[in-house]
Amino acid sequence: MNYKADTVCIHGQGSREQVESTGAISFPIYQTAAYVHPGVGHSTGYDYNRVQNPTRKELERIVTDLEHGVDTIAFATGMAAVNAFMELLVPGNHVVATDDLYGGVIRQFRKVNEKNGIQFTYTDTSDLQAVEAAIQENTKLIYIETPTNPMMKVTDLQAVSEIAKKHHCLVAVDNTFLTPYFQNPLDLGADVVIHSATKYLEGHNDTLGGFLVTNSPEIADKIREMVKTTGACLAPFDSWLILRGIKTLSVRMEKHQENALAIAKWLTGHPKVTEVFYIGLEEHPGHVTARKQCGGYGGMLTFHVDTQETAHRVLERVKLIQFAESLGGTESLMTYPFTQTHADVPDETRRANGIDEMTLRMSVGIENVQDLIADLEQALGT
Ligand SMILES: Cc1ncc(COP(=O)(O)O)c(C=O)c1O
Repeated sequence: MNYKADTVCIHGQGSREQVESTGAISFPIYQTAAYVHPGVGHSTGYDYNRVQNPTRKELERIVTDLEHGVDTIAFATGMAAVNAFMELLVPGNHVVATDDLYGGVIRQFRKVNEKNGIQFTYTDTSDLQAVEAAIQENTKLIYIETPTNPMMKVTDLQAVSEIAKKHHCLVAVDNTFLTPYFQNPLDLGADVVIHSATKYLEGHNDTLGGFLVTNSPEIADKIREMVKTTGACLAPFDSWLILRGIKTLSVRMEKHQENALAIAKWLTGHPKVTEVFYIGLEEHPGHVTARKQCGGYGGMLTFHVDTQETAHRVLERVKLIQFAESLGGTESLMTYPFTQTHADVPDETRRANGIDEMTLRMSVGIENVQDLIADLEQALGT
């Protein structure tokens, strides 16, 4: 089959596994911990839920097809996916990572992986010379977020993948912000794609999940072994919620993007807004690369206001937009990276990346855009 992404969101590329005979349109939730063995030495293909579950397997099939991979492993959270993946490295390995990553990933690298002997160099991966310069003899992985969280820097994935191949290291891309509907890193040379499924894939701000997708059967086998061993698998009901969420991914992403572009343009003209970072704006430094490698620009934007007082006032005054620490759902959320998502990032690092007391991040939802602009207008004041 060669279905387009909006069809794949609903059906995948092939047909689903026949695990039941009622013909239910909605894939059933297999809420079970274990499975009966038909006989000694025989299995139905399902033995114990930590290893596999039919609902989770159906979700993994859809995500694999969306990301053009060979396999997907679903986790309880995005951080569990990052954690399992980093376990593939061994002490003494070196990683080149985007400097402006989600703060929780930086915390994982600093507090868990560094303790276990993995070394890191953080650099601006949108600068190809900086990537090349950061690579060492022992570099095994280039870890990228594009666009970055929260400063929306764009990395040229094809160019970085070529550098990585030259130096025999893997490329992993966190594709949470754009989703496979707008960006397919494996097609551009990456080896692994990581998602916080909590965000756009599930899309309704009501559960957590994570994915690791790869085009390497060897990496997939190692990760399956890891999740079987360490146990951060996605539960059946959460698998079903994400399966259901993905069915509407295409229409949600189009609307997120339409609203985000209108809001970014409106913010650009506001006297209290000093800078707007949205990759769909032509003046954004990453726009040309984004246009080349992405099918769209997504619903995430960041902006700077004139003072800390204005930033606090906006967070306290927004009514329709909610002050909360997540993204990617139908509801518009505003986040204060300085005290929320990036609170644990060393101060000089976050300031060097442009995150300060005046930085606001907005996950633009799918409400009516005029209502959202009216809310921003009253919150910003004059
Ligand atoms: C870009 C990105 N990657 C990974 C994560 C971690 O995902 P989770 O919160 O599902 O563990 C987040 C969470 O905010 C994120 O924004």
